[in-house]
Amino acid sequence: MKSGYLLVKKSPPLQGTVTVNGAKNAALVIMASQILTSGTSTLENIPNSADVRQMITLLQDLGALVDFDSQKKRLIVDTTTINNYQVRPELMNKMRASILVTGPLLARFGQAKVAQPGGCIIGQRLINYHLAGLKKMGIQIKQEESFIHAQRIENNLYDKQSRITLEYPSVGATENLMMYAVLGSGKTVIINPALEPEVLDLIDVLKKMGAHIDVGCSSITIIGVNKLDPVTHTIIPDRLEAGALLLASAITGGQVTVDNVRADHLDLFLEKLREVGHEVATASNLFDETQSSQTTSITLKATHTPRPISIKTGPYPSFPTDLQAPMSALLASIDGISSIEETVFENRMVHTKELEKMGAQIELKHNTALIRGVEQLYGCEVIATDIRTSCALALAGLAALGQTKIIGIHHWLRGYDGLEQKLQMLGADIKLFYEVEKEEVLTLKKTSRKLSNLLSNE
Ligand code: EPZ
Repeated sequence: MKSGYLLVKKSPPLQGTVTVNGAKNAALVIMASQILTSGTSTLENIPNSADVRQMITLLQDLGALVDFDSQKKRLIVDTTTINNYQVRPELMNKMRASILVTGPLLARFGQAKVAQPGGCIIGQRLINYHLAGLKKMGIQIKQEESFIHAQRIENNLYDKQSRITLEYPSVGATENLMMYAVLGSGKTVIINPALEPEVLDLIDVLKKMGAHIDVGCSSITIIGVNKLDPVTHTIIPDRLEAGALLLASAITGGQVTVDNVRADHLDLFLEKLREVGHEVATASNLFDETQSSQTTSITLKATHTPRPISIKTGPYPSFPTDLQAPMSALLASIDGISSIEETVFENRMVHTKELEKMGAQIELKHNTALIRGVEQLYGCEVIATDIRTSCALALAGLAALGQTKIIGIHHWLRGYDGLEQKLQMLGADIKLFYEVEKEEVLTLKKTSRKLSNLLSNE
């Protein structure tokens, strides 16, 4: 993709209802999990984002046949012909989620050759927890030039009894170790696992495929099986896109309803919006356990007298680190002093520098931002350095006087599927400008041709 940018202008109070897409961070790992089976699976509610298209390319490079109907958000993946356990470095370094094919490739082939993954520059993004856990499960790890070569030492399927305590409840490490453990005759207990909604959606898929997985309050137990079957599954809604849309309503003083969302995935985030003073109601507004497992709608009616708050991010169900930067945009223009402490990533305050260019007053102390609300933010040219910073700057642009030009927009396209169109539908003055590389257009045309052939044979 050539250079792209978002142009955002001060917008009137947003009004209306929009539907939330499927969750990027569930879709990517569940796509990777299909390496564990041979056959054709159907995944619904898949967002048409750049990272999803990148995972499609990665699976095709391994030998899978993938067709994606981006209008219907339906992805059909046939993994029968996967015949390769090596991922080219140029594919690995495009996104963090590439590392999530390691566990499935090890389970399928007994080995995997991968490189350091890419991803947002919000921290070192080590993979030591992934590798340490795999070693405990009998995997030999060797560095071969630019590759990490992971190999099962014995030839038979994984048959060990392993107990792995994660030093930190890492989402990716939990997912990778689980996807290796599900095949074979071994028993694996992961202590201190991540239990984010996206991890639980992966567990739901693996169990539908035939895996034996039990989730405790601070552990996951996996009993290996010989074979996993293809699956049909609808990905959970994207709590991060829902959060962005609700924040857009709050920052413009509007009233917006987001449909097809899981309010139980956003408990603390919604509580914090209420603490600011906004009226936040779920569909029935009598939130009970039975309703928590279905999608619902959430309405935010903005207050005109918002109050400053304090936030500390952490593993689920704490305040989500991926909504920290977007929330900062809201707090930047709330009178008083708010604070945000980031505890998950060591370098996730880069957005504060860009918000300061717009007139925000933010004092950084290590990983805590003290935000003194200002009367007015001012549009200017700013740089998106990661997915969630691009969202924070777009939100700030909706409230800033004049025009905000956000460059580095490939991050926006990596993480969201038409979020700018949804904001436009609600009344926001936001436009996306970018040119698609020729080969990307050709790929999109080829994929839709293959799909129409497949569907016409139905
Ligand atoms: C996933 O990243 C998400 N990405 C991130 O979303 C999200 O912020 C993060 O989980 C936390 O919720 C995807 O699911 C594709 P971690 P992941 O392993 O798995 C350190 C977005 O914007 N760590 O839970 O990489 C790590 O550096 C992205 O959608 C190690 O030190 O997150 C971080 O400080 C951003 N060694 C902390 O643990 C390891 O081996 C949490 O990382 C692994 C992680």
